[in-house]
Amino acid sequence: MMNLAETWAASNARFEALLAERYAHHGEPQEKLFQAMDYSLLAGGKRLRPFLAYQFCAACGGSESDADPAAVAIELIHTYSLIHDDLPAMDNDDYRRGRLTNHKVYGEAMAILAGDGLLTDAFGVLTSSGLAADRAAACVRVLSENAGSYGMVGGQVLDILSEERELTETEVLDIQTKKTGGLIRAACEMGVICAGGTLEQRSAARRYADGIGLAFQIRDDVLDVIGDAEKLGKAVGVDGEKNTFVRLYGLEACKKRIDAETETACAALICFEKTENLRKLAVFLASRDH
Ligand code: IPE
Ligand code: IPE
Ligand code: MG
Ligand code: MG
Ligand code: MG
Repeated sequence: MMNLAETWAASNARFEALLAERYAHHGEPQEKLFQAMDYSLLAGGKRLRPFLAYQFCAACGGSESDADPAAVAIELIHTYSLIHDDLPAMDNDDYRRGRLTNHKVYGEAMAILAGDGLLTDAFGVLTSSGLAADRAAACVRVLSENAGSYGMVGGQVLDILSEERELTETEVLDIQTKKTGGLIRAACEMGVICAGGTLEQRSAARRYADGIGLAFQIRDDVLDVIGDAEKLGKAVGVDGEKNTFVRLYGLEACKKRIDAETETACAALICFEKTENLRKLAVFLASRDH
């Protein structure tokens, strides 16, 4: 029986091979674009969202490859969100996934376009990877709702607009639910869809995602204060005057909230079979250091 780290590593090895195959059509005139896309996409990262899609698919009785389109699509969108998040007009960060940020290497125009390419291609992956048409359509809907103006993009906007003032707890939670929660929710729900799970399972997957998603962003904010840049692959101490959970709750209360959300997440797993990995994952994420 593999432990969580081994299971996750094995899942990632398979997934990395799948990603590496994706742009095997290099040699096109827009080669530079593919280089910029691959630079960020193939730079590692935890691959948390793909792993969630695979695990929820398995929890609903699906096979590993059933969730491939969802896993690739969500990681393309997540990677685009990071490239744009790091731009000078946004967080203006120099390091990501242990290397220079995309715009530092390829320039701002190419970084913007690499993000655009990853975002748009994600929907192509869902609709042209052999996923049954009804499941593909359901995934497109879930992904666009959670990644678009009501989801991650909406959250990023609220995050930026809020930098000048102190937010209420409700406002900070709303930003998190959209900004980080959105893609995590989409990953979990698409995993269920790819296995042909029930509506009840889709809703339970969202509940799990909401718990670990909130815990994940609180931990991200905590790590900006107590984390190690080397391990994280990005700079720490850069959140400054932002409306982070550390600013809202303080470090101690952040930990309590993370534990409470982790418990809520695990309670939602009752609707599935084979949930050991998802349970261990929630617990691992609560005290992750990268
Ligand atoms: C970072 O996401 C951005 C947030 C939503 C907090 P991850 O911590 O999952 O980044 P990678 O994919 O491992 O680089
Ligand atoms: C970003 O949140 C979430 C995204 C949608 C990319 P952060 O701005 O806190 O993420 P990091 O700390 O740069 O990874
Ligand atoms: Mg940001
Ligand atoms: Mg950022
Ligand atoms: Mg952060």
